[in-house]
Amino acid sequence: MTGNANYSGKVALVTGGNRGIGLETARQLAELGFTVLIGARDFAKGEAAAKKFGGKVEAIALDVAAPEAAVQAAAQVERRFGRLEILVNNAAIHYDPSARALKPDWTVIREAFETNVFGSWRVAVAFAPLLGASGHGRLVNVSSEGGSLASMGAGAPAYSTSKATLNALTRILAAELRGSGVLVNSICPGWVATDMGGPGGRPVAQGAAGIVWAATLSDDGPTGGFFRDGKKLPW
Ligand SMILES: NC(=O)c1ccc[n+]([C@@H]2O[C@H](COP(=O)([O-])OP(=O)(O)OC[C@H]3O[C@@H](n4cnc5c(N)ncnc54)[C@H](OP(=O)(O)O)[C@@H]3O)[C@@H](O)[C@H]2O)c1
Repeated sequence: MTGNANYSGKVALVTGGNRGIGLETARQLAELGFTVLIGARDFAKGEAAAKKFGGKVEAIALDVAAPEAAVQAAAQVERRFGRLEILVNNAAIHYDPSARALKPDWTVIREAFETNVFGSWRVAVAFAPLLGASGHGRLVNVSSEGGSLASMGAGAPAYSTSKATLNALTRILAAELRGSGVLVNSICPGWVATDMGGPGGRPVAQGAAGIVWAATLSDDGPTGGFFRDGKKLPW
């Protein structure tokens, strides 16, 4: 990214962009001038969400838990744009605060990893060449302080271990992409009032703002970090 505010003609993809924090992130990026692709596992839901905006927001079919979907979506973006400036790995499932690691529900744990870890990983791999082609790619893994080892305690075993693993992936991808112009960071949006967060959290606009910050970092910005509201969080 250039650090200036002219994002017209630049392309962003937000996974799980049809509702919640992903949808608000798409809205804020579109407002900045990006062409935004809303990744949705149910394309009709993505289209319905995109329709609320002008023509600069479009839906793209992308079920991150489906092994071939990321490759197919990346091929579509390559044909259409030849590059991608921003990838926001936002899609996630199974916040399980009342569950306990000593009473594991392996189905829930496996599903959480399939979407939150392997899904984000597959999407990152499929789109890394397009992020590199932009010359200033930004990869944002939407994580959670629930994945911070520093503050981890009992409960939410599926969600917390999946987000801790996502944070590890952020570190590795940042190192592997160093020198390519692609900056990779983990962002906690805070407790946000969405279907996942439930009532009482802060507004989606506030949660999404920290993601947009990481998505629009200047070229000398941080990589391999963990932030909320632009401030460092402990791993
Ligand atoms: N809300 C919070 O308090 C909070 C706190 C910390 C971190 N976060 C993180 O912020 C991100 C967004 O959370 P949210 O609160 O907006 O969650 P949400 O309201 O539950 O929305 C989740 C989004 O992810 C999509 N999704 C789920 N599985 C998918 C898959 N396999 N492929 C593609 N899309 C999929 C959902 O699509 P469908 O509509 O098809 O289900 C939906 O659009 C997540 O990474 C979450 O872990 C949230």
